[in-house]
Amino acid sequence: MVDARQAAYLQALGVDVYVPRSAPPLQAEPPLHAEAVVESTPSPDVAANLDWNELRAAVAACQRCELHLTRTQTVFGVGNPQAHWMFIGEAPGAEEDKQGEPFVGRAGQLLTSMIRALGLRREDVFIANVLKCRPPDNRDPKASEVASCRDFLERQVALVNPKLVIAVGRIAAQSLLATETPIAKLRGKVHSFGAQAWPVVVTYHPAYLLRSPGEKRKSWQDLLHARQLFSRLEQESASGGRS
Ligand code: URA
Repeated sequence: MVDARQAAYLQALGVDVYVPRSAPPLQAEPPLHAEAVVESTPSPDVAANLDWNELRAAVAACQRCELHLTRTQTVFGVGNPQAHWMFIGEAPGAEEDKQGEPFVGRAGQLLTSMIRALGLRREDVFIANVLKCRPPDNRDPKASEVASCRDFLERQVALVNPKLVIAVGRIAAQSLLATETPIAKLRGKVHSFGAQAWPVVVTYHPAYLLRSPGEKRKSWQDLLHARQLFSRLEQESASGGRS
């Protein structure tokens, strides 16, 4: 059954809610680009003690990898720095590089719809990327670039201290979780990231959903999973668990 909330979600995403349920099985999210991402290069970890403004300044001044040569500007992240929900994507695209804000292009509009489907507003959550600079021609992040940015991301997550992290897309998920496991196998589980083992849930990238609208129903399942987990985590912290 499609309930009213799911119907609204699917409608917002442009999906016909009367599509037969016995649709043929769909493919797992294919690589967005050709190159593998994960490598066990250690991050420099110089950001570990920075406060929010220092971290923002360090990111803005970063020249650790060649991406600083081609970026218009760094894209630090946007939203509530004390958010309970943190969404982490792959890297800025052309529009994000131009505006200095993550997820502002077509995929970003879809991500905003996904956030609304959770009953949240974009300004309630924090949105960031694994990489703070745009890879030229939107190519895959290189393992060395992911490693160079890693301590920025870890510090950013530590300072926001979200109750739940949503890894948006295969590359974000594989980078955060340091794995090459396909996204289809990462969905529907609870993973953890960083020093404080922040809980992580994985979903498809909205750019992939735009290319493969049939997968939007699965993204709804991911959001339901995330919402249920979030409620459980809140109950646990209310009864004396992690706050
Ligand atoms: N895709 C991402 O992963 N991040 C953005 O900021 C934009 C598109």
